[in-house]
Amino acid sequence: MKISVIGAGTMGTGIAQIAATKGHEVCLYDSFLGAIENAKDKLEKILNRLVEKERICSKEKDEILNRINFSKKLEDVKGSSFIIEAIIENLKIKQNVFSELEKIVDEKCIIASNTSSLSIASIAGVCKHANRVIGVHFFNPAPLMPLVEIIPAVQTSSKTLNTTKSIVDNWGKVSVLTKDTPGFIVNRVARPFYGESLRIYEEGIADFATIDWALKEIGGFRMGPFELMDYIGNDINYTVTETVFTSFYFDPRYKPSFTQKRMIEAGYFGRKSGRGYYDYSKEFPKANENRDLGKQILWRVLSMLINEAVDALYLNIASKEDIDLAMTKGVNYPKGLLMWADEIGLKNILSQLEDLYSEYKEDRYRPSPLLRRMVKQNKSFY
Ligand SMILES: NC(=O)c1ccc[n+]([C@@H]2O[C@H](COP(=O)([O-])OP(=O)(O)OC[C@H]3O[C@@H](n4cnc5c(N)ncnc54)[C@H](O)[C@@H]3O)[C@@H](O)[C@H]2O)c1
Repeated sequence: MKISVIGAGTMGTGIAQIAATKGHEVCLYDSFLGAIENAKDKLEKILNRLVEKERICSKEKDEILNRINFSKKLEDVKGSSFIIEAIIENLKIKQNVFSELEKIVDEKCIIASNTSSLSIASIAGVCKHANRVIGVHFFNPAPLMPLVEIIPAVQTSSKTLNTTKSIVDNWGKVSVLTKDTPGFIVNRVARPFYGESLRIYEEGIADFATIDWALKEIGGFRMGPFELMDYIGNDINYTVTETVFTSFYFDPRYKPSFTQKRMIEAGYFGRKSGRGYYDYSKEFPKANENRDLGKQILWRVLSMLINEAVDALYLNIASKEDIDLAMTKGVNYPKGLLMWADEIGLKNILSQLEDLYSEYKEDRYRPSPLLRRMVKQNKSFY
């Protein structure tokens, strides 16, 4: 089966690597000067490293590279059965590319988008055969992160969905099915990890290092929120928050933070610029390792995260199993949030949220109706 990938940037190159490693004939296309050459260099370096680490032998490396046609001609996608688009995050440009692709491939070819934030329906909306369009959202770095969110649009046929799921599963990925709503599962449910941590900082409750320490040391998260925002890049993380906030018609639950905005304005993007919440040329500041304070911080962020996961379930964004899988496999959370909620006790989560709500009288702290209902009925998720 021939697979094509449109856009040879970070994501496209990683996706092409996966498909070629799984034995597909791949066409990796990019329209920008130098992009294809860069992608080839980058992929060669990655594969050489895999050879050094003895994950693959040099014959396999050559075979993987030989399966990829690094192309600057869109017509080269002809004959593909499955195309994944991973170009710039811009609706108009993506729509143009989808229209062009439809002129080249036959009716049966599935065309998927790796968009993080655009609606799949809006991309499919310009297509003649909209039922072949679907979202497949990989995580960065694509060859290493196991999760793929699969997003059928209202126009997507069940055949397109089933074929896409079987391709992604055959690639050894963990696929979850999610509705075509802003942020899908991960980028929606994870918002409070950043947003509530920023709020705690803004209220002067604790500094960045202490909040990071609390979530890692007491919560078991692999990275603290400020470390993670610095790693992702404040510009990228802020844009996702702003997009989710706008797409949800300004629901205060997703309100972006001035603290993060100022970081971007100052050029403090994070690790990539040498400075973000932390200065990477200096020793890191010490956390205030007070366990009571740490528990208070963790408890507040975690109850907001759980509320978000419960609300996603309430609104049928995905199944409870997929919501939990998405957070453990897509962003390495130590436990699925709904499983975690059961362990803590739904009553305890609800009472924490009600305390926050009664203190702040802000809509962002409203408990999900499903959480209230389940507590009333004395139910658990699993
Ligand atoms: N980077 C991430 O962490 C991440 C994670 C998941 C999804 N995504 C999504 O994947 C997509 C690509 O992101 P990225 O980080 O790989 O971007 P990137 O900037 O690294 O790469 C985009 C590539 O697309 C090419 N391109 C732009 N317009 C094109 C066009 N009209 N035709 C052909 N090629 C074109 C560019 O030359 C570039 O090589 C976006 O939709 C993004 O939202 C990104």
